[in-house]
Order: sequence, then structure tokens, then C-alpha cells
Amino acid sequence: MEQKKPNQKLKRKRRNNTSHKTAYKTKLYLNKNNSTRALAVETLKENRLAINLAGLKLPNPTMLASGILGYTKETFKTIADGGAGAIVTKSVGLKPRSGYANPTVTQTSCGLVNAMGLPNPGIEEFAKEIIEAKRVLNVPLIVSVYGFTAEEYATVAKKAVVAGADAVELNVSCPHVRETGSEIGQNPTILKEVVEKVKSTVQKPIFVKLSPNVTSIAEIAEAAVNAGADAITAINTVKAMAIDAETAKPILSNKVGGLSGPAIKPIALRCVYEIYERVKVPIIGCGGITNWRDAVEFLLAGASALQIGTVIATKGPNIFKATTRGINAYLKRKGFRSVNEIVGLSHKS
Ligand SMILES: Cc1cc2nc3c(=O)[nH]c(=O)nc-3n(C[C@H](O)[C@H](O)[C@H](O)COP(=O)(O)O)c2cc1C
Repeated sequence: MEQKKPNQKLKRKRRNNTSHKTAYKTKLYLNKNNSTRALAVETLKENRLAINLAGLKLPNPTMLASGILGYTKETFKTIADGGAGAIVTKSVGLKPRSGYANPTVTQTSCGLVNAMGLPNPGIEEFAKEIIEAKRVLNVPLIVSVYGFTAEEYATVAKKAVVAGADAVELNVSCPHVRETGSEIGQNPTILKEVVEKVKSTVQKPIFVKLSPNVTSIAEIAEAAVNAGADAITAINTVKAMAIDAETAKPILSNKVGGLSGPAIKPIALRCVYEIYERVKVPIIGCGGITNWRDAVEFLLAGASALQIGTVIATKGPNIFKATTRGINAYLKRKGFRSVNEIVGLSHKS
């Protein structure tokens, strides 16, 4: 009910003058403190949900989150057919890695805790799958990369782009592998070095995926943007663990892992909100999205696009279609012509 007032005002404005020019003006009004972001995430005219995300054209703002469904072109295609506007691969490194011994994932009452240990075939092998995936996908393919040094990140990113990646997402936020992931993303100086190195090596958009396990995620986001990040993904999993009362032992072989799913949504929302207040590049919201209402909340907090992960395990690939249908119905009901019009709207009240 509280949100109705400003939206009704907008509706009235549009009813009086429904030209495209007016709608565009409204968008600029909504983004008046944020013109760089308004330009970077420009709505494609033909579709209320289509967005231009740092140069990538997405039919809708939903994306597969990294790591949820592995590496094969078949699974990526299934997710794209399920309605995802873009695909993010599982994180890939320079060399093959087998990851941790089982158990690597455990279900809790409020989500999954995982410590996979970044298992992956290495970029040389995975490049073949990128080439194949690009043949069958009609939405952008974003390759998630990790490394143990800035040079490694850059080398993997370059090989991914040569194979056909439309963008790279830097995993500087994995909470359970030493000397990579969040150990990089929690230190602004090292993060800057990594982002600058990748930025000077590849000509495609660079997304930087941040960890919530920091004192100020906005400060880290700012460091990434100053180093050249084209977009920020927030968030990766929240450091967590599970213990078995019967055996009296930690359940995961790595003991500590990362929590995902509905329990982390309020944390992720807060992170997106804080980042939006600090930086001008698009934000990709991620963490605990299970339906269109969650998605809308992230858009209102300041996300221009959304990644969906854990819920796929229970709702399947059609969660993407269901989410976009719900966002579309919401926009229509509230009188908005474009998804961009609600990005960051909760900051205006
Ligand atoms: C089993 C599993 C594996 C994951 N692997 C990766 C990964 O390789 N790289 C990465 O950046 N994030 C990884 N994530 C984190 C997700 O991409 C996402 O940030 C997190 O799960 C929060 O979103 P969700 O609540 O919608 O799942 C993984 C998450 C899960 C549950």
C-alpha cells in the first residue's frame, strides 16, 4: 500500500502524456542522480523486460547464477529454454581441480550449505564447451573465472573470451578455497590489482562478484569499479557450517562452506541497497531469489539484473519464465513501461 502513492503519480503523468519522450524523461527523472547507470542499462524499446546490461542485450533481467548447474551446453540450453536472459557458468580456473571430497553440499532448514572446492575441468578443456554452448544459446554466456594470482585471472578470462564468452564474471568471493575467492575480494588492494589486470587483458564486459563476508561491501564495490569493473554481482554465499548432532562432527568435508537460498535474501538485498548508493555501474542482485516478488524487491533495491541459483533445485528451470512473467505483470499493474523504471526505486521514497 505504501508504494502506491508515488506509482499512482507516475501513472497519472503518463496518462496525460503517453509519448515515448515523456516516458524517457520519467526514466531520467528516476535516475537523476545516476545518469551513468541509466545509460549503461538502457531499455531496449521492443520489450518491457529487455535490458542492455553493460553492453549485453538480455531479453529479460534473469540469469543463471554461477555453479548451480555445472558446465555442459545441454544444461545451459535447458536453462535458457526455461526463460533465463543470460547464463553464468560454474567458476573455471587455469588448471583442472577435483574439488573437495564428499559431502560437499548439505541441506539445512533455511537453505544449502556448500563447499565444493571449485571443482572444474580447467579452462583449456572448458573452452571446447564454451564454443559448443555458443552454438546453441540465444542468450549471452558469461564465464565465471577464478585464479590464485592476477595473472591467472587474466589468462583464464582471455581464454574464455577467445572461446566466445560474451562477458566474464570474476569470482572474488568463494568463501571456502584458500588464496583465491573471498581472500582476494576482501582485500581492496589485491582486488584492484586483479580487476585492473583482467580489464587490460580482455575487451569484454567484466562483472565482479562480491562476498557478503566483509565489513563494508560498498567500499569493496567501489574499489572494483575504480579498477574498471563494468558491473557488480552481489552476493556470493554467506560463510556458514553445519554440524551433525549424532556424530558430533561438522557435516561438510571442508567443515566450513557457504549458505545459499532464502535465508540469505535479506542480507543480499541489504548489500545491493548499499552498493547502489555508492557506485554507478549496474548491479546484478543474487541470493535467495525464489519468485517474482523477491526479484522485484532486488530491482527496487537497485539491481538491474538478477541471478537465480539454489531454487532451481526445487522449482526447476521454469523458475525463470515464472519470475519474468511475475515481474512483467507487476510492471503492468503499477503502470511502468520498462523494468529499468523500478531499478533503485526504494531509494527515492
Ligand atoms: C552448489 C553451489 C555451487 C556454487 N558454485 C559457485 C561457483 O562456482 N562460483 C560462484 O561464483 N558462485 C557459486 N555459487 C554461489 C551462487 O552462484 C550464488 O551466488 C549463491 O548460491 C546465492 O544465490 P542463491 O541463493 O540463488 O543460490 C554456488 C552455489 C551453490 C549452492
